[in-house]
Amino acid sequence: MSTVIDGKLTSAKVREQIREEVDKLKENGIKPSLTVIRVGEDPASKVYVRNKQKACAEVGIESELIHLPEETDEQELIRIVEECNQDPLTDGILVQLPLPAQIDEERVKSVIDPAKDVDGFHAVNMGRLITGEAGFVPCTPAGIIRLLDEYDIGIDGAHCVIVGRSQIVGKPLALLLLGRNATVTICHSRTRNLKEICKQADILISAAGQTGLITADHVKDQAVVIDVAMNRDENGKLCGDVKFDEVSKKAAAITPVPGGVGPMTVAMLLNNCLQSAKGRKAL
Ligand code: GUN
Repeated sequence: MSTVIDGKLTSAKVREQIREEVDKLKENGIKPSLTVIRVGEDPASKVYVRNKQKACAEVGIESELIHLPEETDEQELIRIVEECNQDPLTDGILVQLPLPAQIDEERVKSVIDPAKDVDGFHAVNMGRLITGEAGFVPCTPAGIIRLLDEYDIGIDGAHCVIVGRSQIVGKPLALLLLGRNATVTICHSRTRNLKEICKQADILISAAGQTGLITADHVKDQAVVIDVAMNRDENGKLCGDVKFDEVSKKAAAITPVPGGVGPMTVAMLLNNCLQSAKGRKAL
């Protein structure tokens, strides 16, 4: 039986450290703050945003929600983002995705001031990941690295196989792992021999969004398995890509869904807000 990597516990530990730092900033008159913009009525986004705001409140970060109607056009959203860019009281700006079809997400991401881009989605911050300069790192990949570190899972020299090439997870995670001297393979929906490649992984990370994709046959004995997906099974229950019961018998360590990577994403968002407040006040 493998070690179950507890994202909830690790997230609580990180959030406690953040709370202490936020308290110290407040003693110096600095109040870290996040502005969240949500457009329309996507039900999952509503839940995610509520959780992010609740997490902010718990560590003492102020958060404001700007909720815009479904029919908001791109120009209007960009105007509001630009207002937030100029607002000295806002340290972080987060535009919850997905956006309604009439709005080009890439254009909106490009308007957010990179110094307030706590999602790390702006091309400038993505570029910094490549050059190795300091910048905001997308929260889910940052959370995965933190989990690996907290559980003393060696990244240096490890073969990490990532399933999924999204801008939010797969691509930035590959860069972070490379920066830590891993050998990285990225697989995706067009990859041939997925099983054979996954089986070579010392650390296998699945962010494909396909329930049951990763079976015991995809996993090398004593590999570490990180499940990033948040899928719903046929009963509407939250589940990942990995067949947990069979894979946990073979892996050295594994993240559950829920309670693995998910809670770390929110913790890393809080950390980015904190770092933004510190950076902008040049502390
Ligand atoms: N939608 C799903 N995940 C995310 C995220 O991490 N940030 C934003 N802005 N939108 C999302």
